[in-house]
Amino acid sequence: MSEIIKYIESNKDRYLKELIEFLSIPSISNDEEKKKDVKDAALWLEKEMKKSGLENVKVFETAGHPIVYADYLKAGKNKPTVLIYGHYDVQPVDPLELWTDPPFSPVVRDGKIYARGSADDKGQIFMHIKGLEAHLQVSKSLPVNIKVIFEGEEEVGSINLEKFISDQKELLKSDYVVISDTSMYTDNLPSICYGLRGLCFMQVDITGPNRDLHSGSYGGGVENPINALANMITKLKDDKGRILIDGFYDDVLKLTKKEREEFARLPFEEDKYKEDLGVEELYGEEGYTTIERVSARPTLDCNGIWGGYQGQGAKTVLPSLAGAKISMRLVPNQDPAKIAVLFEDYLKKIAPRSVKIKVTSLHGGKPSVTPIDTPAIEAAVTALKKGFGVEPVYFKEGGSIPIVNTFKEELGADSILLGFGLPDDNIHSPNEKFDLSNFYRGISTLAYYYDELSKIKI
Ligand code: BES
Ligand code: ZN
Repeated sequence: MSEIIKYIESNKDRYLKELIEFLSIPSISNDEEKKKDVKDAALWLEKEMKKSGLENVKVFETAGHPIVYADYLKAGKNKPTVLIYGHYDVQPVDPLELWTDPPFSPVVRDGKIYARGSADDKGQIFMHIKGLEAHLQVSKSLPVNIKVIFEGEEEVGSINLEKFISDQKELLKSDYVVISDTSMYTDNLPSICYGLRGLCFMQVDITGPNRDLHSGSYGGGVENPINALANMITKLKDDKGRILIDGFYDDVLKLTKKEREEFARLPFEEDKYKEDLGVEELYGEEGYTTIERVSARPTLDCNGIWGGYQGQGAKTVLPSLAGAKISMRLVPNQDPAKIAVLFEDYLKKIAPRSVKIKVTSLHGGKPSVTPIDTPAIEAAVTALKKGFGVEPVYFKEGGSIPIVNTFKEELGADSILLGFGLPDDNIHSPNEKFDLSNFYRGISTLAYYYDELSKIKI
């Protein structure tokens, strides 16, 4: 391994140059106008993966954005087969005016690279390519059998990947899945994420009168859809942070005493947390700590709300339309399809008869848990200790990677979530960044990890 680590050390400058090239491609998956850029990012990966020494590199077209596949299957039948998954699409960049530097002109400042996708997830998938490249260039082989798939639609719910996985079970068959699309628990504390929340994402459209009205002539006599929607939203949770949708908690697994003890042992500085976010008080479900609230309990949040006049100054109008996008993060054993029905039933029950309501399910994904006694987790602990020189912690992440559950259901493989971002990387926000020290240490850790995985008996 020492030659491989030396190779990584001496190629750092090249890695950074290549990363900047990759991050300069605006691969925003939810923007029709960026379709070609998303494709370009896929083609960039194809080229890089071929250069790295991976084999059978192939770009699969889908009904949406392409899936890039590669493999290297020469380690032998007695070695594990590991599927590396990640995404090369990124979130939109708005509000653009809040970025210090343009989101697709990567800039390095104070040891961090600033660009959309730097942490989520282009920077992290790039690290895998480099970890594999180091093995392939130095040893002309890989210690385990590797399959790689990078998709371009994770940020829009992996809409075509699910079908791809069930159509290509033989191609993707593997013992474990490895994903670097999460963060470390905190700086200098390498971490293994063993659980992700699920997601149920809904849109609510409210229609009042058949056209916008003068709010003086009609106000008071006709229901205002914004007022109606706001009233309905206040009925979704009580003042103790409990969600009021009938049946919402029916399938929620209770946190065990052991699990709560483990959460309590994780370092957490409430004052620092508040200061970082610029809030005086924290808020959340009564009876649970902040760590539990943000990772192991279900939630409901408005992600966007609209209606009426939003321009400068005043305009008196009683609008015809209002709407909201609402996400619910789910925990084991909640099912997004079931929650979507409960949500719709509840909203229709509380909607006033003076408006029309339409509820649409946009996308969802099941929560997931990786058993921490799998050998691939033990191998990750060893690799993180070698890469960072520190014993890692286990934690659960509040975000979602819906396809993790599909890997389990379709391929029978557990996912090992080995992420190198930091909680303050501003993923999905302006000024997304990635710490270069974690980037470089992460590449070495991944190189160690493939080696550690090869010691697992299958
Ligand atoms: N990388 C994130 C998942 C994540 C979020 C990890 C927060 C660590 C902390 C992933 O790209 C993501 O954003 N997922 C979406 C899923 C959705 C669009 C289906 C999410 O969690 O909102
Ligand atoms: Zn994301």
